[in-house]
This record gives sequence, C-alpha cells and structure tokens, in this order.
Amino acid sequence: MVTAARKLRLSKPRPGSRPGETVRVLISRARVRQRVRQLAREIRRDFPKDTLHLVAVLKGSVLFLADLARELGGEVSFDFLSVSSYGKTTASSGEVKLIKDLDVSIEGRTVIAVEDILDTGLTLKYLLHLFEGRKPKHMRVVVLLDKIDRRIADVHADYTGFTIPDEFVVGYGLDYDERYRNLADVCVLQLPHTPAKK
Ligand code: IMP
Repeated sequence: MVTAARKLRLSKPRPGSRPGETVRVLISRARVRQRVRQLAREIRRDFPKDTLHLVAVLKGSVLFLADLARELGGEVSFDFLSVSSYGKTTASSGEVKLIKDLDVSIEGRTVIAVEDILDTGLTLKYLLHLFEGRKPKHMRVVVLLDKIDRRIADVHADYTGFTIPDEFVVGYGLDYDERYRNLADVCVLQLPHTPAKK
C-alpha cells in the first residue's frame, strides 16, 4: 500500500527533472553501496597482489569507478576513454566510434573494464576487441547493471552488480540527456507519454 507520506516522497522534485518526467527508485543508494563493496572484495580476492588498472568509458561509469576504487584497497590506478555510439535508437547498427583513447598503455597490466550498464553489449564488444589487442596481462569486466534481456552481442561481465529489467534507468552516473547523473539512487525514468511497464 502506498501511504500518503510515501506518495509525497515519490513526487518530490528530483535534481534535473522536467515537467512530466518522473523517477522512481529501483536500487537504493544503500544497496548500491553494499553491492559495490562486495564486488570490490570479489575482484581483490581474485587478484590479491596486482595493481588493478581500472578503465572506464566516460561519463556514465565515473561514480561507480570512484566508489569501486575506494573499496578495492591495495594499488589501484585508473584511466578513461570516450566513445560515441550511433544513437540508442539504431544501436543494432553496432557502430561505436572512439572519441578519446586511454592516456596510458594497458600492455602487461591487470585491467578491469568498469561499465555502468550492459544493454545490447555492443559497446563492451567493441571495447574488449580494442583492449585485448593491446595485450593486457589479465582482462576482466565489472558492470554495475545488466539489462540481460536486451543483449545483442555475445558478451558477458565477469562481475555483475545487479540484473535489471528492460527499463531506462538514470542516476549514480547514468543520464538522460546529461541530466540525473547526480541522483544517488538508481532510478527508473518515466518520460511523458511513455506507457508505464507493468
Ligand atoms: P550498449 O552498447 O547497448 O550495451 O550500451 C551501453 C551504454 O548505453 C551504456 O554505457 C550507457 O551509456 C547507455 N545506456 C544503456 N542503457 C541505458 C539506460 O537505461 N540508462 C542510461 N544509459 C543507458
């Protein structure tokens, strides 16, 4: 049952929201924090002595990487790259373009690709192809969110935070038109005129 107080909380304006857009919490900040801690433990257990070189695609994974890096302990370094996917609407074209490359070589390093969300998997497929050609010592993938039903490319993460339904999510770094990245919770975004999913 939705109480009046809860209704009020749900309708509270969120940072960056526009008229008609609503967001509802899918994964609370507390659950995110706890899961990130667990993921960090799993990764560190697998590579207890290595310097972990975290690489992430700007900008959605930045908050996840920042929290993960602090939970990992030991030696950690990180680097970023930037890609453009040709329109979410035509994602099946699979075209991904490198806009900004990593600053340093990953050859011989233990590389952890840090992804905010795995959707069609086309971006990750492109990244893995790119990185594996550069001869890292180990190559692993950690994703916070996995929309498994949307997968087109045959890729998987080695460490997964949460499997989520096929909904558009924002917050914890993820945006809609550059907005909502600063929400602390992972939320489902409902746009005006989009029928709600049951
Ligand atoms: P993929 O190549 O289809 O797996 O797409 C991965 C990228 O699409 C992610 O790194 C996000 O930038 C973006 N993306 C996919 N689903 C969502 C979503 O629900 N909210 C926000 N961005 C998303």
